[in-house]
Amino acid sequence: MKKRAWLSWILTGLALAFCGCDGSAEPGAGSQVEPEDRVAETIKELDRICREQTVYMVGPEKGARLAELVRSRAPSVVVECGTALGYSGLWIARELERLGKGKLISIELDADRARRARENFERAGLSGWVEVRTGDARELVREIEEQVDLLFLDCNYANYYPCYRGLESRLKDGALLVADNAGIGAAGMKDYLEEVRSSHESETEWFDIDLPWGKRDAMELTIFRSKGER
Ligand SMILES: C[S@@+](CC[C@H](N)C(=O)[O-])C[C@H]1O[C@@H](n2cnc3c(N)ncnc32)[C@H](O)[C@@H]1O
Repeated sequence: MKKRAWLSWILTGLALAFCGCDGSAEPGAGSQVEPEDRVAETIKELDRICREQTVYMVGPEKGARLAELVRSRAPSVVVECGTALGYSGLWIARELERLGKGKLISIELDADRARRARENFERAGLSGWVEVRTGDARELVREIEEQVDLLFLDCNYANYYPCYRGLESRLKDGALLVADNAGIGAAGMKDYLEEVRSSHESETEWFDIDLPWGKRDAMELTIFRSKGER
């Protein structure tokens, strides 16, 4: 390796070591920020990191809608399948904190992503509202014992149906199911969409988004009715 390349390699390493840039959002070191600002800063920084590293996440339009849904339903238990780095989870957990109640159980298959998500919740000051579980959501949802008010599906289209089925017996009557990518991923989640549209009250909500990987997409919003109530 040439001398200049060595120097550049060492300087890059030093810079990364000092800024702690492993993809976790990092608010200004030593800065005194209000709790709400801390969350907003973490969301903003994570938004930038996800775009840069092509870590698929909902983006601010759908994030804000998720927050609105959490606010209006004041859930006790929210389950998210597909945490990634915690972007959507931050939008959800911030509302739980504002409401002063509830918890988010977020499941992620990739251990490194789950670790980074935990760090991001910690940085945002929201870790008390979130439990990140590492593993296959199709299996881990079966271990959830609590009654669930809101299920957010965002963990590869083919997994929506098994995740939903695995959690079905713990969904409260009237629970809200939110399935991301119901526009661009409709074919891949056909089994899930057919089920919720035929057995429950379900609607497709479209969003203009501004992400490097898409400009328009939808979420499927479903009000779950238990068998006796349909
Ligand atoms: C689109 S990303 C989730 C984005 C996240 N909800 C957000 O908006 O910030 C999908 C994530 O699902 C995870 N995933 C894929 N299959 C999974 C499975 N079977 N169980 C849990 N997570 C899974 C992937 O590793 C990936 O991080």
